[in-house]
Amino acid sequence: MKGTFQTIEGTSDLLSGAQRPLVRIEVWRHVEHVIHTVMHRHGFAEIRTPVLEPTGLVARGIGELTDIVSKEMFTFERGDTSYVLRPELTAPIMRAYLQHHMEQKPGVQRLYYIGPCFRAERPQKGRYRQFHQFGAEIIGTDDPRADAEVIAVMMDIYRTLELTKTQLRINTLGDAETRPRFRKALVKYLTPHREALTKISRERLSRNPLRILDTKVEAERVLLEDAPRLLDYIDEDSRGSYEALKGLLQSLSISFVEDPMLVRGLDYYTQTAFELEHAGIGAQSALAGGGRYDLLAPAIGASHPVPAVGFAAGMERLILALEASELLMPEEHPFDVWMIALGETAGREAFLLLQTLRAAGLRVGMELGYRSMKAQMRLANRASAQQVVILADRELEAELATVKDMGTGEQSMVPLARLADNLIKKLN
Ligand code: HAM
Repeated sequence: MKGTFQTIEGTSDLLSGAQRPLVRIEVWRHVEHVIHTVMHRHGFAEIRTPVLEPTGLVARGIGELTDIVSKEMFTFERGDTSYVLRPELTAPIMRAYLQHHMEQKPGVQRLYYIGPCFRAERPQKGRYRQFHQFGAEIIGTDDPRADAEVIAVMMDIYRTLELTKTQLRINTLGDAETRPRFRKALVKYLTPHREALTKISRERLSRNPLRILDTKVEAERVLLEDAPRLLDYIDEDSRGSYEALKGLLQSLSISFVEDPMLVRGLDYYTQTAFELEHAGIGAQSALAGGGRYDLLAPAIGASHPVPAVGFAAGMERLILALEASELLMPEEHPFDVWMIALGETAGREAFLLLQTLRAAGLRVGMELGYRSMKAQMRLANRASAQQVVILADRELEAELATVKDMGTGEQSMVPLARLADNLIKKLN
């Protein structure tokens, strides 16, 4: 083997102080903090589920014929069990809801999450093999206010982060019967044009024809202009819910466009489907997507439907969008105090003082090798420390330390006995 190991393509290390916001841990923590705060305000409770799930759950939940299940799952066998690294969290959360009998808890369940997901896609900007989703699910009601509520909490997160140039597209996919009837009509219309379709659309025609509506190929878009329209196949109930949702969004001043071609890449949706896009992040422009999935529960083994609606969003795409919009990107946190020690006795003394100051709640750092004053001062500058304490063996004999205020440049000698108290008082 030559050289050291590297991260797998399509995965990343997140590092403190990294140049690119996408891999700078401070940015992630800032965004995660906003997500937790907004979700909390909207009354959602956090849920964390395992990264490993039974393959059957994901395959039956998302649908055998979807791209995710047929091509993009990381699965492996152990004994006679097949495991999958979760490609999303909606099916796992419905599993958890059923497993823990959450329907017996009073009221609807509002759940939210942040965590890694895995899809074996071809990596490119905005598309990774390990990526991170945050999202929210409301389980236990078919009230269209729940659909409006998940869209509202989603929009609130982007608004709080001041990300505005987004576009919300919505559609209704109808009830359980709508899709098969529409699929049949679409296949009937497209089959005579099979040769005019791209290879990928020809594949989809037999496996998952609704996805052809998503095409970005101009000739296919033209062909689709005369295709049967999903809207003509929608049942009365779904129409009613859709109208109610649109009314609620308008009242909440959440702007949207209706997109009758919007179908989602996962099979579990009925009725509401939506996507949020941002134009500034390249080809992978979907920041978030979601919809209603009342039939997911029976698909994964429940004896009855469980009405539910939710959204999930990509963390990486959100950070790319923040970067493209030149929004504030947090840097590393500055240190309150940086200790500089010159000599071994001073090194020991500084180390003890460091622990006292940390115990009092201050953020304090020091170098652990015995390096020159200049080198240690450089580190103090990089740490953006407010105060620098310099302990040197010869000043220690007089029980004194030097304290430098990095803001004003002022320097003073302070008796060791009063040093900790002085700093704590000044900085706390
Ligand atoms: P999804 O559209 O497959 O929906 O994914 C949601 C979001 O995850 C996407 O809009 C995108 O931002 C991000 N994402 C997906 N794949 C990747 C990738 N390979 N690299 C980077 N980001 C990616 C779902 O997963 C559903 N569970 C959403 C949902 C929740 N529906 C109801 N509740």
